[in-house]
Amino acid sequence: MSELKDHNSGGLLAFLVSFGASLALIVYLSVVDKGVVGLNEVVEPAADGAPAKVKFDPSAVENPWVSTEDMIKHGASVYKTNCAVCHGDKGMGDGPGAAGIAVRNLVEGQWKQGGTSIALFKTLQTGIPGTSMAAFKHVAKNDRWAVVHWIRSITNNAPKDDAAALEAFGKTAE
Ligand code: HEC
Repeated sequence: MSELKDHNSGGLLAFLVSFGASLALIVYLSVVDKGVVGLNEVVEPAADGAPAKVKFDPSAVENPWVSTEDMIKHGASVYKTNCAVCHGDKGMGDGPGAAGIAVRNLVEGQWKQGGTSIALFKTLQTGIPGTSMAAFKHVAKNDRWAVVHWIRSITNNAPKDDAAALEAFGKTAE
């Protein structure tokens, strides 16, 4: 009799332990799940009814020769991908690829081909023959304009653009 009682209480204990463990797991999972949902809400704050901010699409910009905040910001990432290896993270001409070659310091801006938007864009079209500054026509046109705007935003030598000439050039430049 007492053996049976012991057996029963052992079973009850086992049941309670496993039930408790399941309950703990359920509570844990629902807390973790809540945490993930909370994170999403932070990343995409559309809860106030305001339209979610549309991601900037540089390829949709109609007048890419016009410098805007969005284009400058995008230009910084184009620069990081294609240019920083030689010109350095901040454009100081000190990237790891610059070892042993005289790379232009873009902040100083001692331009050989010119620092207007047109001149900079042309440099990216043709490169600088006889140097390791290659043409970058494989980079999308609007991405090249974006990096031009970024360079002009960081350089100490940004000669004033002739707006009419820039527009005329920009409309046909590839
Ligand atoms: C392989 C290294 C290398 C890479 C990558 C590179 N450049 Fe250069 N760049 C150079 C060198 C070297 C010069 C200087 C050439 C010379 O001696 O005149 C230069 C010069 C320039 C100049 C100066 C033009 C002038 O009028 O003097 C600009 C602007 C420029 N690069 C922009 C860029 C941009 C924008 C990118 C990325 C899309 C880029 N470069 C990628 C090596 C590089």
